[in-house]
Amino acid sequence: MELKVKDFNPAAATWDEKPRRVQLAADVAKAIRGYVPVPPRAEAMEFGCGTGLLTFNLIDMLAQVVAVDRAEGMLTIVKKKAATLGATQVTTKLIADDLSALGTEEYDFIYSNMVLHHLPAIEPVLERLVAALKPGGVLALSDLEDDDGTFHDKPEGVVQSGIKSSWLMKALERLGLINQGHTVAHSIVKQRAGEGKAYPIFLVWGARAQ
Ligand SMILES: C[S@@+](CC[C@H](N)C(=O)[O-])C[C@H]1O[C@@H](n2cnc3c(N)ncnc32)[C@H](O)[C@@H]1O
Repeated sequence: MELKVKDFNPAAATWDEKPRRVQLAADVAKAIRGYVPVPPRAEAMEFGCGTGLLTFNLIDMLAQVVAVDRAEGMLTIVKKKAATLGATQVTTKLIADDLSALGTEEYDFIYSNMVLHHLPAIEPVLERLVAALKPGGVLALSDLEDDDGTFHDKPEGVVQSGIKSSWLMKALERLGLINQGHTVAHSIVKQRAGEGKAYPIFLVWGARAQ
């Protein structure tokens, strides 16, 4: 059976209205600043940027950033935010699932938040992102730690309940990344069975050798 990928266009206009999404992006940005060796004045790409919550939290560290998504509605919001902030270093790129629109550009820093668990096939995407790193470039990925399937309020179209960060670390190592690290950047608490249940959000990173 072919997996149908969730369409985030309908969610774009109200995406930032959930404070937990805003807080999650702020905490991931804080963890990136605290732990990840982002090259100075990086030329960057955010994969699956949504409305750019993470990108606009990191903007002062980035010389250029391409915000990439498969949902045009999300990119419309990114463009509006960039125009309002005068953030001329932010550009957007609409891509399809074959990732061919990524082209041959290479980046100092590639990052992504809460995207991997929506991908029907993660490994080809990881391979493509690692290939788009310049020598010495850094990849940082945050996502929901593999859970018991109860995180999503509307699980229709969600491909995986979460990602095992230990698996992800090994996958990145197999792809040649070095100087890897792992931390828990945030925890989302949701009401489940009458009580608060915490869902950890990991941040994993690694660098391409020089
Ligand atoms: C859960 S949202 C997270 C958005 C944003 N990163 C954030 O933290 O608020 C997942 C995003 O990944 C995008 N996405 C999913 N699969 C993708 C793919 N194959 N290529 C590019 N973007 C993708 C979706 O369109 C959506 O905007």
